[in-house]
Amino acid sequence: MNLNEIPVTEPQRQFYFMNLAKELLKKKEEEVGRKLTFHVTTFGCQMNARDSEKLIGILENIGYVEIEEEDADFVIYNTCTVRDNANQKVYGRLGYLNGFKKKNKDMKIGLCGCMMQEPTVIEKIKKSYSFVDLIFGTHNIFKFAELVCQMLQSEKMVIDVWESTDKIVEELPTDRKYAFKSGVNIMFGCNNFCSYCIVPYVRGRERSREPKDILQEIERLVSDGVVEVMLLGQNVNSYGKNLENPITFSELLEEVCKIEGLKRVRFMTSHPKDLSDDLIRVMAENKKICRHMHLPLQSGSSRLLADMNRHYDKEKYLDIVRKLREAIPDIALTTDIIVGYPGETEEDFMETMDVVEKVRYNSAFTFIYSPRTGTPAAKKEQIPEDITKDRFQRLLKLVQNIGQEKKAEVTGQSVEVLVEQVNEHDDSLVTGRCDNNTLVHFKGDASLIGTIVTVKLTECKGFYFIGEQI
Ligand code: 5AD
Ligand code: SF4
Repeated sequence: MNLNEIPVTEPQRQFYFMNLAKELLKKKEEEVGRKLTFHVTTFGCQMNARDSEKLIGILENIGYVEIEEEDADFVIYNTCTVRDNANQKVYGRLGYLNGFKKKNKDMKIGLCGCMMQEPTVIEKIKKSYSFVDLIFGTHNIFKFAELVCQMLQSEKMVIDVWESTDKIVEELPTDRKYAFKSGVNIMFGCNNFCSYCIVPYVRGRERSREPKDILQEIERLVSDGVVEVMLLGQNVNSYGKNLENPITFSELLEEVCKIEGLKRVRFMTSHPKDLSDDLIRVMAENKKICRHMHLPLQSGSSRLLADMNRHYDKEKYLDIVRKLREAIPDIALTTDIIVGYPGETEEDFMETMDVVEKVRYNSAFTFIYSPRTGTPAAKKEQIPEDITKDRFQRLLKLVQNIGQEKKAEVTGQSVEVLVEQVNEHDDSLVTGRCDNNTLVHFKGDASLIGTIVTVKLTECKGFYFIGEQI
C-alpha cells in the first residue's frame, strides 16, 4: 500500500479502505473457491441496532454475503454493557463461537459496542478469549472498513478503542433491516451521568448531528421507500443545545414532519428533566408524530431520584404526564423502572408502585439494579437479592395487570397500522404496529408490507392483538 495515496479526510479515507478490503476479500475468495459470509449479532438498544446496520452496509459493500447463522466467515458481536447480564451473555456465546472457529480456520471474530469501552473487558478478552481477531469501540465505528483491512492483513488481535471523540462522520453506507422504516441518529452520547448508568462512560459526551444532515438523510430514506423514522438519541430532549447554531428538539421535529412522503415519526429516548411544553405542543399539532412517549421513570421516590441525579421528582414527573395526557388524550406511555437501587427502602418502592398506579403505563421495562464498575451507585451498599427479587415480582405483576387492562380498553377500536412483515408463525397473517407501538396480527399478504391500513382490534391476546382490516 502506498501510504501517500491514503486520504486523510473522512469519509473518503473509509471509501479507500472499502476498495482495499474488496481486493483482499477477492483474493481470499479465489483461495477458498467460494464467497465469504458474515453475521452481525446485536445486543442492547436501538442505537446498537442502528450501528449494526452501518457495519452490515460496509460489509456488503466490501463483498461479504450476510447469513442468518453464526457459523459465518466473519462474525461480529455488537455488545451492550448497561447491565451485567448483557456482558455475561457475550462471554457465554464467545465460547460457542470458538467451536465454529476451530472448524473453519479462516473464520474471524470481531467485537464492538459499549462493552469494549471498558478496559477490564479488554483485559479479560486478551487473557481468556485470545481467539478474537478484532476489537473496536463505540467512538471509532466509522473506521470499520479500515479496521477490517488491518484484520485481514494481520495474524494478531487488532484492538482499536478510543476514549472519546468529537467526530461525527457522515455519508458512509448502511443497510436497513426494513425497507419501509429506519432509525436515524440525531445525537450520540449522554451528559447526564445518572448515578447507576454506564452509558456516559462508554458512549461519551453528547454530540448532536447538524439538522441539515439529519433532514437530508431522512429525505433520502423517504425517496428510497421509507415511511416511518425513529429519531434516536440517549436524551433526545436535549438535542441541538451544543450546536454552533442551537436548535431545540421540537424545532427539529417540526422540520422532520414537513418532509413530504414521510408518514410516521417516532423518537427515543425522552428524559423527563428536559421535556418541554413546546415538545408537547408540537406532538399535539403534528399527526405524523406517533402517539407514544417512552418516558423513563427509574424510581417513584423523590429521595432516590435525587440520589440518582435525575433532576426531577415524583411530582414533576406526574405533572409532565398530566400535561401530555391533556394535550394528547390517546397517547401511549411506556417507561423504564429500576428496582433495588442502593438504599431503596420499602417506602421508596411503594412510591414507585404509586406512580405506576397513577400513570397506568401501556407497558414498562422493569430492571433489577445492576452495579456498573466506575459509576457512583456501584460504590454504595447494595440491597439484598431476596428483597430486590420480591419487589421486582410485585412491580412486574402490577405493570402487567395494568398493561392488560389498558389493552382491554382499546379492544374493538379501529386504528392505523403500519404493516411490517408476514407473520412468522402463520403466513395467512401479517404483523404490524399501531402508532402507539402495539403489535397487531391480521389476515393479509406480503403486498401490504410497508403500507398503512385501518384495522379493527378484535381480540386482545396478552402482548398483541388480533385484528381485521376494514
Ligand atoms: N442497572 C439496572 N438498570 C439500568 N439501566 C441503566 N443502567 C442500569 C443499571 N445499572 C436501565 C435504565 C435505563 C435503561 C435503558 O436501562 O432504566 O433507562
Ligand atoms: Fe444513562 Fe441517564 Fe444518560 Fe439515560 S440519561 S443514558 S439513564 S446517564
